[in-house]
Amino acid sequence: MCGIVGYVGRTSGRADAGHTALDVVLEGLRRLEYRGYDSAGIAVVADGEISSRKKSGKLSNLLAELDARPLPESLTGIGHTRWATHGGPTDQNAHPHLSDGGKLALIHNGIIENFAELKLELVAKGVEFASETDTEVAAALLGDIFRNKLGGDVSDGGLTRAMELACQRLEGAFTLLAVHADQPDVVVAARRNSPLVVGLGEGENFLGSDVSGFIDYTRRAVELGQDQIVTITADSVTITDFFGAPAEGKEYHVNWDPESAEKGGFPSFMEKEIHDQPDAVGQTLLGRSDIHGKLTLDELRIDPALLKSVDKIIVLACGTSAYAGQVAKYAIEHWCRIPTEVELSHEFRYRDPIVDANTLIVSISQSGETMDTLMAVRYAKEQGAKTVSICNTNGSTIPRESDAVLYTHAGPEIAVASTKAFLAQITAAYLLGLYLAQLRGNKFQGEIKDILADLAKIPAKIQRILDNEGQIKELGEAMADAKSVLFLGRHVGFPVAMEGALKLKELAYIHAEGFAAGELKHGPIALIEEGQPVFVVVPSPRGRDSLHSKVVSNIQEVRARGAKTIVIAEEGDEAVKAYAEHVFYIPETPTLLAPLLATVPLQIFALALATAKGYDVDQPRNLAKSVTVE
Ligand code: F6R
Repeated sequence: MCGIVGYVGRTSGRADAGHTALDVVLEGLRRLEYRGYDSAGIAVVADGEISSRKKSGKLSNLLAELDARPLPESLTGIGHTRWATHGGPTDQNAHPHLSDGGKLALIHNGIIENFAELKLELVAKGVEFASETDTEVAAALLGDIFRNKLGGDVSDGGLTRAMELACQRLEGAFTLLAVHADQPDVVVAARRNSPLVVGLGEGENFLGSDVSGFIDYTRRAVELGQDQIVTITADSVTITDFFGAPAEGKEYHVNWDPESAEKGGFPSFMEKEIHDQPDAVGQTLLGRSDIHGKLTLDELRIDPALLKSVDKIIVLACGTSAYAGQVAKYAIEHWCRIPTEVELSHEFRYRDPIVDANTLIVSISQSGETMDTLMAVRYAKEQGAKTVSICNTNGSTIPRESDAVLYTHAGPEIAVASTKAFLAQITAAYLLGLYLAQLRGNKFQGEIKDILADLAKIPAKIQRILDNEGQIKELGEAMADAKSVLFLGRHVGFPVAMEGALKLKELAYIHAEGFAAGELKHGPIALIEEGQPVFVVVPSPRGRDSLHSKVVSNIQEVRARGAKTIVIAEEGDEAVKAYAEHVFYIPETPTLLAPLLATVPLQIFALALATAKGYDVDQPRNLAKSVTVE
């Protein structure tokens, strides 16, 4: 996800500290590289002008550009690393974006949901756009307000006032940082549902997406609230809300070292990514429906008539992504009544599958580079199928070669074992399922709106699980000597059980298997002996009653044979307590959405157990993040 840095220093401060805006911003961007990005840019204010440079690709490309075309020395600057969402990773789409005749520069993290509507308005006023980004629209809006509404008057707030008025018009999630040539000693920033922290210095102040952006210069930080604007100069930090009313931030001391700052203070990327999951789901939902609950998947550029004629869906994926597909199958079939198969990509094209122009292939891949999935998608295209890619990596090969793409916005996943991408994939596949149901008239608009409302509550519910992770962590640590752990689930709980087992295999190198609970008696029950740990994912008792009671019976079957049962159940399900050694409760949610919650304790368990064994959870042995061989 995008990284953001801002800096204002003053001459005397600079004499002491020797910092220029360029030094500070580039160092901050280097520290924020871990967030993942595909272009970078910087703008400084000097000599009554804005000077900016931006380049697609790695920071080294920007550095080469700065060598070739140096920026003037300056004490006010902003910098950005971009993780493409609206528009590909090109020089043109990179930030900063300029407006007000090149006097204003803006950088942005997040998604502006009403950018299309604002763009039409600005185009009608004669504004021309050079990129495909929502950010350029925000820059143009800010410039228009500064120049045309406020008359470019900097005596009464100037850029800060313009930012307030702009934020009142913007919908979605955003962190914005702006500089203006007419206010050379100021950086103005705003945040809504997107991260921003202030760093307090002596004769200099900083802004960053997180503290890594300025950790080399100060450990004093200020946390901002939602819908706040902050104006920094070298000597002041002023916080207001979007209507200009004074507001306060919370100052704190950063005691992380620079390396752990990159992991958000967590000991591993994996732990950080597990904690990123409320955002991963939230960001994936963002901007994909209107206020009436109508899905607007603009990026799904397949003729609606073709989507209406689909008579079969085949989901192609590997590993964790295939489990996301298996979860989605239950929802898609239920909502759209389209037969849906989930196939491991590497098995698909070797079995002479039945695919034709009415088949919709949905590939799911975090990296977008998995060779097995790529080859399967190519094969399906050759057979005439339409292909949609669900992917987390903008511009990667699978989405490029597919007819359409629905990006997950989980942010870069650095730990090899997938966590946040899994939840984001399920979320995106659900959006696709609901979109098809909307298009084909399988569901009333009100029903879709209700499901979207339930989905919107998921991030807060994941957060509640994370806030109470102590109990499951303790169990993971206590079970460090386990030799084998089994996982059982029914319905959507079945793929969750398999994902729980996969996490344990990958991270802790323990034998682990996930079974459909109903399959037990057909063989796997022979594995149960005294003390065998068995996780059971229990469906909601409020759902289809028979499902809950069948799983409770399965718990009794394994307990009767000596298993130690560990149960994931819905809050309020008191009945399971009698049959479990340990119960971990997850918040109430409709059955089809429960995998987005039930998976989280299983991830935390695997992480805690592997950590207790002293293993490197970010880079498990023998595994690669992107499997680019067949
Ligand atoms: C497991 C894991 C893998 C990937 C699989 C597919 O934690 O990460 O099983 O899910 O290799 O990778 P993508 O999604 O990049 O196609």
